Amino acid sequence: MPIVSTPQERLLGDLRALINADAAELSTRLRAQQIRDFPPMAQKTIRRFSPSEAAKFIGIHEGYLRQLVAEGKGPAPQSNNRRTYSIEDIEILRLDLDRDGKGVRRYLPRRRSDEPLQIISVMNFKGGSGKTTTTAHLAQFLAFRGYRVLAIDLDPQASLSTLFGHQPELDVGDNETLYGAIRYDSGRRDMAEIVRATYIPNLHIIPGQLELMEFEHETPKALMERQGQDSLFFSRIGEALGQVGHAYDVVVIDCPPQLGFLTLSALCAATAVLITVHPQMLDVMSMSQFLNMTGGLLDVVANAGGATQYDWMRYLVTRYEPSDGPQTTMVGLMRSIFGPRVLTHPMLKSTAVADAGLTKQTLYEVERQQFTRGTYDRAVEALDLVNGEIEGLIKQVWGRA
Ligand SMILES: Nc1ncnc2c1ncn2[C@@H]1O[C@H](COP(=O)(O)OP(=O)(O)OP(=O)(O)O)[C@@H](O)[C@H]1O
Ligand SMILES: [Mg+2]
Repeated sequence: MPIVSTPQERLLGDLRALINADAAELSTRLRAQQIRDFPPMAQKTIRRFSPSEAAKFIGIHEGYLRQLVAEGKGPAPQSNNRRTYSIEDIEILRLDLDRDGKGVRRYLPRRRSDEPLQIISVMNFKGGSGKTTTTAHLAQFLAFRGYRVLAIDLDPQASLSTLFGHQPELDVGDNETLYGAIRYDSGRRDMAEIVRATYIPNLHIIPGQLELMEFEHETPKALMERQGQDSLFFSRIGEALGQVGHAYDVVVIDCPPQLGFLTLSALCAATAVLITVHPQMLDVMSMSQFLNMTGGLLDVVANAGGATQYDWMRYLVTRYEPSDGPQTTMVGLMRSIFGPRVLTHPMLKSTAVADAGLTKQTLYEVERQQFTRGTYDRAVEALDLVNGEIEGLIKQVWGRA
């Protein structure tokens, strides 16, 4: 019998064809553009730092750095007689200082064996709340400060990877995201095979791409067909991290803007949680729902034996405009409810952050001269305060002063 399709079915067919055709065309054009703007083998590099930046990252006064250099430590001046520091120079200075200090003061901040690995999940299901920007800048800041950092892109949209110079469609193949290490079937790989070095010595990354979505699709099936020994979805990221954790001090996870199995698994692997929130009515309302749902899901996970103990959780106010009355009201509301769980320092909205993002760079990567001095300095100051506060929380967990 001939199948006669209704007008509605014909429309659906058309839509499918249309979307498929659009997707193919867009993907081809984007790839061409990406290859032109940023060839696959082009490596991102990290710029050199000024003496004041170097001193800040090492944690000494600029005057002391000058004195060290006068004593012949550190790099020789460049030909134009300007003294700038590569990230490697900074690490060498740090090592020298640590040796000279004979353990009295620590310049090399790596954790000791009795100081547990810190796993910070950056989350909120509200899109655009600043998760990726926060993760990227925090991971870089900690690496510049001398910690060994692993950044994980858990978002299938792969914004963090892109910011770090990995083009998901070009340089991240199948089984090269965290999915490779947490998948349920025999295709599972070792974490050590998935971790990638970056252009910053102390910073490694696990990039993301669309295949991460498989975990959302496979988990319900795996739950139904579960064999006795298989670990449940919420333990998988933590177990995977167990394979490489010894090589790092801090892991920072950029979660996708949804409360799926990936986010829940990141939540269970975490030792600390950072919830980013833009202080506007709609965003805060959405966060309220996020908290409600997360609370409910954590109950389920806890009942199934999942870990729900955290060293700390904090709210970070992002893209804040202090001159905006309603935003200030929202921040006040959050502080009155959550008290000290809202980080003291908010991340200010800045064209420097947004513009850097447009060229796939962080604020630490762009040159200060590209911006009006005030704009750049204000943004970096806010960023350093936020990141410094988080570093303080990490040190607190380790019992350091
Ligand atoms: N402090 C800031 N000042 C100005 N722009 C910012 C700031 N922080 C983030 N942005 C911009 O806001 C946009 C959203 O930020 P981001 O991608 O970090 O959010 P997200 O929560 O990761 O989004 P998604 O939910 O889609 O993953 C980006 O274009 C970013 O450049
Ligand atoms: Mg993001």
